Amino acid sequence: MKIGVIGLGFVGLSLTSVLASKGFDVVGIDVNEERCRKISDGVSPFFEPDLEKTLKNGLKKKLKVKNDISLVQDCDLIFVTVGTPQNRTGAIDLSIIKKAMISLGKSIQKSKKQHIILIKSTVVPGTMKDVILPILENNSKKKAEKDFGLISNPEFLQESTAIKDTKFPHAVVLGGYRTKFMKKIEKFFTKLHPKTPIIVTNHQTAEMIKYANNSFLATKISFINQLSNICQKIPGANIDDVAKTIGLDPRIGGLFLNAGPGYGGSCLPKDMKALIKFAKITGVKPTLLNAVEDVNVKQLEEIILIAKKKLGVLESKKITILGTSFKPNTDDIRDSIAIELIKKLLKRKVKVTVHDPKAIENTKNVFKNKINYTKSIQDAILGSHCVIIMTQWKQYQKLSNNEFKKMKKKLIIDCRRMLAEKQLDADYYAIGLGKE
Ligand code: NAD
Ligand code: UGA
Repeated sequence: MKIGVIGLGFVGLSLTSVLASKGFDVVGIDVNEERCRKISDGVSPFFEPDLEKTLKNGLKKKLKVKNDISLVQDCDLIFVTVGTPQNRTGAIDLSIIKKAMISLGKSIQKSKKQHIILIKSTVVPGTMKDVILPILENNSKKKAEKDFGLISNPEFLQESTAIKDTKFPHAVVLGGYRTKFMKKIEKFFTKLHPKTPIIVTNHQTAEMIKYANNSFLATKISFINQLSNICQKIPGANIDDVAKTIGLDPRIGGLFLNAGPGYGGSCLPKDMKALIKFAKITGVKPTLLNAVEDVNVKQLEEIILIAKKKLGVLESKKITILGTSFKPNTDDIRDSIAIELIKKLLKRKVKVTVHDPKAIENTKNVFKNKINYTKSIQDAILGSHCVIIMTQWKQYQKLSNNEFKKMKKKLIIDCRRMLAEKQLDADYYAIGLGKE
């Protein structure tokens, strides 16, 4: 069996590498030629733990990487993993996937194979039936479910654990019609993930499952963030003890209750916005979803408020941001809350210095020479009026009075309570901890 993967980003490259490392005959396809070249050389275009090792393993076997979509002609299974970003209004932008579907349709027009196309990209309910299917049929001059299979196969991996999640997903969702194509795919996934539940449903439900998943995770985060703000006003209260204890109730569950500066990343914010827009189209007022978003936006204001309260006018103050990636163990800064914070500080003419173990290059691409970048945490802190810990990189856990002694004013805002147990000779504020 030959497998094609269209789009070699976090999802596509993880899938390509895992399948190839297992010995499948895989061709990875991307429009970005430079990206293809790097990947062919065994170099990942972004940092993701274990990805490069898995990729190199795959390249030793049957993996090929090319900037040539016509190679799908030889593939039995074709996974589509291109981006589905948001447009300026927050609604889903389908232009990339539409373009990819036109090329894919044209590429399979003359092929004699009965391809099965699996859409992994996140798309709002109705997209498969109303957008993707007609584009593929028109451009291939073939009929879906007769000449080729079309299946919704949403992805649930998290960046920073993408390889593990690709190898061991918690569920496999297959949306579409119960045809011979579906049977073949069920067999494929049963063999690939023998212990994983496989849910077969229709397209629109599969599409909705993906949004339900991400919006529920966002809801949990905004819930705990709202409670953390209340805790902060109660002397001695501790949000981590609250989260840990409610998490023991199996009806609640302990994950995604880590209070912080708000959820960021390339998916939760954009998928929340897309679902809100979509709900409105259906005529449903998304009251709860709006509140989740609102809490998320306001969380950042809380941080700025503390800085303003303690430093007075922010203009010309030197503020150090520790962590610009949207979470630890990634260099991804897409929709990172730290990046938002820096933008807001720059508007207030703050002198910003940043440190991040992996994301400095990506951060430079955004801010160029508007801010300072340091390799060491010590250099970042030197002469600063305020340090804000944004990302929970384990390196920051080691910080102590020794590093902070060279600050101009010792104000520390710790968004992840990483230094809460330390006796710091500083004005220390942590999200979710009520000052005694
Ligand atoms: P990405 O932006 O990192 O990568 C997409 C890749 O597709 C890019 O390399 C781009 O060059 C390529 N591409 C664009 N058009 C193409 C075309 N016509 N032909 C071939 N390649 C093309 O995206 P991502 O983060 O991997 O996400 C992909 C999809 O999966 C999105 O819909 C996203 O919402 C969803 N998703 C992402 C994650 C995640 O953690 N990143 C997790 C689950 C689901
Ligand atoms: C998220 C989902 O977790 C994945 O299941 C999904 O597949 C993916 O989006 C997607 O659709 O792209 P990811 O974007 O990698 O994965 O990041 P998360 O681990 O969910 O974190 C998102 C944000 O929430 C980060 O800013 C993180 O710091 C924050 N977060 C997460 C918290 O503030 N507290 C928590 O308890 C958990």
